Amino acid sequence: MVRSNHHQRLSLAPFRGITHKVFRNAFATHIGGIDLYYAPFISGTGRTRINESKLSDIIPANENKAPCVPQYIGNDPFEMVLLASVLYDIGYKEMNWNLGCPFGRIANKKRGCGLLPWPGEIDNILERFFHTSKLELSVKTRLGFRSSDEFTDVIEVLNKYPLKNIIIHPRTGVQVYGGKADPEQYLQYKKRCVHPVIYNGDIFNIAQYKKLTEILPGQNEWMLGRGALINPFLALEIKGMAPKPSAKREQLRRFHDQLWSYCLESMPEQRKRTGWMKAIWHYMSGVFADSTSIFNEIKRSGSDKSYLEAAGRAFEKEFASDKLIAAHFQRLTS
Ligand SMILES: Cc1cc2nc3c(=O)[nH]c(=O)nc-3n(C[C@H](O)[C@H](O)[C@H](O)COP(=O)(O)O)c2cc1C
Repeated sequence: MVRSNHHQRLSLAPFRGITHKVFRNAFATHIGGIDLYYAPFISGTGRTRINESKLSDIIPANENKAPCVPQYIGNDPFEMVLLASVLYDIGYKEMNWNLGCPFGRIANKKRGCGLLPWPGEIDNILERFFHTSKLELSVKTRLGFRSSDEFTDVIEVLNKYPLKNIIIHPRTGVQVYGGKADPEQYLQYKKRCVHPVIYNGDIFNIAQYKKLTEILPGQNEWMLGRGALINPFLALEIKGMAPKPSAKREQLRRFHDQLWSYCLESMPEQRKRTGWMKAIWHYMSGVFADSTSIFNEIKRSGSDKSYLEAAGRAFEKEFASDKLIAAHFQRLTS
């Protein structure tokens, strides 16, 4: 018997280039199970005047079909404060600060996880933010840029401020998204943190989720990442509310068709349309058995017609077992 887990609070991680508004809304409409959606990071929003073109993914706020938290990446307190006041005025309740992005072009400029070796600068930024902002702030972080020891000092700084919560992805920046997340290290840091802490990392199937609940007893807030992009029903499975395979297939098709309609309406360039869909299938092919050949076929498709034929064939395949999903995830991280 599947034990019901309704009390688990689940959010969807932000993925720049994938989970923008159309994706989040289609997911909320056709799949569900997610309590809160984090929007991919925005940056360069302006320190004296807001650059509205940077906010297209999150305004107007009433276009969100489910609760959504915008995310800022950067190290300019003036920019952060201005963005927070604009978000507050348009009805958002919270902003998330990205202290985790591992990519060199970001981290080498002391942004994302590149700020973690500089707890003094994090302190200054938070001091200024909380001095003037009314908007609640949460943080999404890794354990460090080069080493997980870096978090020892960072946590002391984070503990000084009234943050809403901290989402910890227990990898270091140099690991990027490869290797394994370290839930034991997460637990050690969680014990020293005064804020609610949300776990994020390598939740790819139910067996793995159960393993994590044993390592992290009492943890009831989780952020799902690539696991939910591979298997969009993961949140519903965790909550013991997964639909039957025939309903799943239908929901997934509607989800896909909504994304594709958006592509046709808003992306005049064929390469851009299939490019976005390929980025989605890079993960989602793993929900079906035979994921490698599905993805290869989709990747090779060079026109709308051949793309739709390849996607149509994917929807006729069997769903992957938990074991096959684990193998797909492993291929992504090795
Ligand atoms: C292509 C890609 C884009 C991402 N974009 C963002 C982002 O905009 N903001 C963010 O905080 N994390 C971003 N992440 C990190 C994910 O949100 C998540 O923390 C990461 O995948 C680890 O969780 P997982 O092991 O469950 O996948 C991104 C990751 C990938 C692979």
